[in-house]
Amino acid sequence: MTEGGVTGSMKREIGVGIVGFGTVGSGTAAVLLRNADLIERRVGSAVRLKRIVDLDVTSDRGVALPGGVLSTDLRGLLGDASVDIVVELVGGCGAAKGILLDAMAAGKSVVTANKALLATHGEEVFAAAGRAGVDVGFEASVGGGMPILRALTEGLAANHYVSLAGILNGTCNYILTRMEREGLEFGDALAQAQAAGYAEADPGCDIEGLDCAHKLAIMAGLAWGTPVDVKEMYTEGIQRVTALDLRCAAELGMTVKLLGVAKRGETSIEARVHPTMIDAGTPLARVDGIYNAVHVVGDAVGDVMLYGQGAGARPTGSAVVSDVMDLARNVRLGARGRVPATSFQMDRRAAIPIRPMEDLVTRYYLRCMVRDRPGVLAGIAGVLGEQGISLASVRQQARREGRTVPVVMMTHRAAERAVQAALRSINGAAELVAEPVTVIRVEDENP
Ligand code: HSE
Repeated sequence: MTEGGVTGSMKREIGVGIVGFGTVGSGTAAVLLRNADLIERRVGSAVRLKRIVDLDVTSDRGVALPGGVLSTDLRGLLGDASVDIVVELVGGCGAAKGILLDAMAAGKSVVTANKALLATHGEEVFAAAGRAGVDVGFEASVGGGMPILRALTEGLAANHYVSLAGILNGTCNYILTRMEREGLEFGDALAQAQAAGYAEADPGCDIEGLDCAHKLAIMAGLAWGTPVDVKEMYTEGIQRVTALDLRCAAELGMTVKLLGVAKRGETSIEARVHPTMIDAGTPLARVDGIYNAVHVVGDAVGDVMLYGQGAGARPTGSAVVSDVMDLARNVRLGARGRVPATSFQMDRRAAIPIRPMEDLVTRYYLRCMVRDRPGVLAGIAGVLGEQGISLASVRQQARREGRTVPVVMMTHRAAERAVQAALRSINGAAELVAEPVTVIRVEDENP
């Protein structure tokens, strides 16, 4: 029989094994079971959940599993010849890597949602897949249910990408939205995110921007066919943003989002994560709460935006199962590597350096807490002027003679190197500011 240019008998049933039965694992199992008929009609073969492995085999996850599916037997799953695709949903950079490598060595294609692992050990995982002759799917690692990786790798593959800008962390977006709408301070908004079950018990990776950086590194790597070292990306979280900054942004017709921004330059890539001030009228500015969105600019297609839930059992399960289906189609036809995991053929990738952050040129929002007395503003403006930084606007937010008041300055386009040099001088001068200046970079191009 011939189909899709592949000759041979097609597998009638593709077996799936899931390692990790937490939030995403249960969402994945639920989608696989509930939509089994639809999945079979789309793939052409039945996609069967054969095994799930987890240390906890007693807690109720709200998914009715067929008898005998759930066990603690990882070796049994990896050695089961009826399991064609192994889904790693353990997370983290510990046991997960070994599970993926062992599964691939056993000849199984793998699916993972593990952005931390891919952003730090992706090259090793991709090389192992190449050696083993299996496929790797990781759509769920970025943007939860939003199919951004497949869009970059397939739907938009004809384009040279100009830029990517994304709201990639629902926890941070939820916190910033609550701060903006209700005037909450960061700590209170974080506590509410945790109470609502959005933020992790240890939310460090989210609020410090690292989760967003992992996702941006994966997207940029696929967009430009280069390994991206997340440690080389400038990464700043949202902890220093205050309700006052969000009010000041609104007065300027802007809002603040934690953005991952990547742009292709002549000889390098700009890739950075930080709180970013964007015009309130832009599409990304309207993405609120736990939602994620990515704005892609391609040389042929122009602007494309994807929007959706970036976390949660069912949305992430949707992305994991889409990978399972993609890989199942290959298993069915006895094919592999039809779409390279790295988006480019491995031997056609080339390392592109990340541009140093100091070379960034953009506009800046500076909030200075100053003593309300003559000469202070002149002192700050003088330091900025010495560094060649030109001010577009200055606004004192209150009048409290002799006491500390916020002064908000918007610069014209300036070099990060110069801004940092100016800040070192200003922050070191107790007669000018009562606390370190808050800096928020403004994104004007393609946010
Ligand atoms: N912790 C992430 C977020 C979801 O808050 O968006 C998983 O990537």
